[in-house]
Amino acid sequence: MSRSDSCGGCCCKLLCSLLQIVITAGFVLFFWWLIFRPRLPRASIHQIQLSAFNLTADNSTLRFSLTVAVALRNPNKRVGLYYDALDADLFYGGEQIQSAPLPVFYQPHKNTTELEGKFNGSAAGVGVAEAFRDESAGGSFNFEVRVESSLRMKLWFVKIGHFHPKFDCKVDIRAPPQAGGVSVTNRTWNCHR
Ligand SMILES: *[C@@H]1O[C@H](CO)[C@@H](O)[C@H](O)[C@H]1NC(C)=O
Ligand SMILES: *[C@@H]1O[C@H](CO)[C@@H](O)[C@H](O)[C@H]1NC(C)=O
Ligand SMILES: *[C@@H]1O[C@H](CO)[C@@H](O)[C@H](O)[C@H]1NC(C)=O
Ligand SMILES: *[C@@H]1O[C@H](CO)[C@@H](O)[C@H](O)[C@H]1NC(C)=O
Ligand SMILES: *[C@@H]1O[C@H](CO)[C@@H](O)[C@H](O)[C@H]1NC(C)=O
Repeated sequence: MSRSDSCGGCCCKLLCSLLQIVITAGFVLFFWWLIFRPRLPRASIHQIQLSAFNLTADNSTLRFSLTVAVALRNPNKRVGLYYDALDADLFYGGEQIQSAPLPVFYQPHKNTTELEGKFNGSAAGVGVAEAFRDESAGGSFNFEVRVESSLRMKLWFVKIGHFHPKFDCKVDIRAPPQAGGVSVTNRTWNCHR
């Protein structure tokens, strides 16, 4: 064998084995994906407790105090979920009026876990007061809870991520029956991702 031949053969071999590695890795990843079929979680709201949802006497500020029970469902058969960040944002009249942190946790496969988001405070937006006046005649209020998450998926011993699914939950509530009262609504509102 001449010098140049052996070098050419060596380069070719190197390229060939590189190509082989890439193709093999592709197949391994593809079958890995097929076996685990990772899917993002689903969310719904199951209960809303409302102890204040009212304008102040000068009609400028909305007082609110409500608790929502958010259920997160891991639909996977073989994939666990690490929630590294979870937040619930409350919107009314097109304005974000508060953000509440939810506890982070590890969710095993086929598991549903309920978390409580607590909102309590006041909002002074023009849209907020307008929406309240429009809706208070009907006695029912439409608002939105958005759950934002950052999660990793556990495929056997490999963790992949991060993924950032957001869940959009449109809910409607009845005003508390009287000042100081609490209204509890048990129902399922599904959230869109
Ligand atoms: C607040 O709004 C209500 C209903 O729209 C109205 O009757 C009342 O006069 C308003 N109060 C003030 C201080 O603007
Ligand atoms: C779901 O997972 C949570 C958190 O790991 C755990 O506390 C709960 O018991 C699980 N629920 C069921 C039904 O297995
Ligand atoms: C909500 O906040 C007010 C003060 O802004 C406080 O007096 C009240 O106890 C709080 N309610 C809840 C349920 O945390
Ligand atoms: C709402 O606020 C108005 C005036 O600010 C008050 O008269 C009324 O009792 C309040 N209603 C509830 C359910 O808190
Ligand atoms: C709502 O569900 C809770 C349990 O999650 C129950 O204690 C309560 O009585 C229910 N309330 C209504 C109005 O159905």
